[in-house]
Amino acid sequence: MESAGHQGPLWCSVKRVNEFYSIELFSQDQCIVIYLDNHATTPCDPVAVEQMRPLFTELFANPHSSHQGGQLAANTIDEALQTIASTVHTQVENVVVTSGATESNALAIRGAVTHPRQRRRHLVTVESEHPAVLDVMTDLQADGYSVTLVPVVPQGQPNAGTVDLNYLESAITSETALVSVMWANNEIGAINPMAEISDLCSRHGCLLHSDATQALGRLEVDLQSIKIDLLSATAHKFYGPKGTGFLLVGGGDRRVRLRPQMIGGGQQFGIRSGTMNPAGIVGMAVALQRSVIDLRQDPNRISQLRDRLWSRLSSGIDGLILNGPCFESHLRLSGNLNLQLPDIEGQAWMSSTPEILFSSGSACSGHEPAPSHVLTALGLSEAEARRSVRFGVGRFTEIGEVEAAADQLIEAYSNLAKLQN
Ligand SMILES: Cc1ncc(COP(=O)(O)O)c(C=O)c1O
Repeated sequence: MESAGHQGPLWCSVKRVNEFYSIELFSQDQCIVIYLDNHATTPCDPVAVEQMRPLFTELFANPHSSHQGGQLAANTIDEALQTIASTVHTQVENVVVTSGATESNALAIRGAVTHPRQRRRHLVTVESEHPAVLDVMTDLQADGYSVTLVPVVPQGQPNAGTVDLNYLESAITSETALVSVMWANNEIGAINPMAEISDLCSRHGCLLHSDATQALGRLEVDLQSIKIDLLSATAHKFYGPKGTGFLLVGGGDRRVRLRPQMIGGGQQFGIRSGTMNPAGIVGMAVALQRSVIDLRQDPNRISQLRDRLWSRLSSGIDGLILNGPCFESHLRLSGNLNLQLPDIEGQAWMSSTPEILFSSGSACSGHEPAPSHVLTALGLSEAEARRSVRFGVGRFTEIGEVEAAADQLIEAYSNLAKLQN
């Protein structure tokens, strides 16, 4: 494993000086922070940052300009798109660049079902999807489309949190335009059986969309062997820059027609207008390629670190429960650990260890943190969901960080438990 090029993450303070921001960086020995939240985002690969740099300065021309500078920027984009396409074994014409998975999901789902040639008005998705899918579905319902939400396998089963295939099949009707199933879940790391789901959609003649945000760079994604009509991704989950993602269109056997959601300059064949971002696209391509190389070279490193974190925590804290699929099932992302504490709320544990960055089982929406809909879909009560936390081990996590985090978390937990008793 190559190191990130510095001693762990750097942390900073941001001040506003006149009209500019001044960012003061602290190195890790000045400010000890352990980052275990790689499902929320990942640090940008330093090699990707280096490759992006000239595109902000020397090679800054608009890639849609017809002069030499524009041509150079356009060629750079073409090469990067080729890299993305070959990494997932699809054709370069299938890649539409977006601002991230939220936009890709909206373009895929809304774009496919509102196309004037689409006659079917029923959609199927899963209870544990990201809000970037669920909220689009709710919005379409308001426009008169019907949506069926399929449950996941409940907690306690080896494949807990994956989509229930029997329910999925029975939800599809002759009116179903599109089925949307995430490749891997962002909270509990459950990996869905995409090959079976793809066969099922082929048999029923409906489009398949997959939000593969958490799968890209973490799993082998080969669109030659699994046919997916629409696939969404975002660079910042595989060590690329934020604000850049893609939608793969037409990876299956069916013809996909999309109604653009943004209109304007007609870039990207009119499917997604707007000046393309050469730096973001190059950073995304380099980061994706390097993540996949790392995955192939060292496939077990991250799961070993995750297993170490789990074994240390469960030997120091009695009664921990693993949420989601069991490790042995191989249906869980290698860096994912989502666990339930016996008697302390996840948010309290997080607040008592501010130097360790991880997530609680409640998503902050508005003022009140709501219990995670993914955990309640598994069958957990609201109280159990509030006692849950998510850790995400990543490519740049070191064993020393896992050991130090486990020690601090156990100590903080026992202090909280004493206060409670
Ligand atoms: C599964 C999943 N889908 C979609 C998104 C949204 O990605 P972005 O914020 O890059 O648009 C995320 C990010 O948290 C995610 O984990």
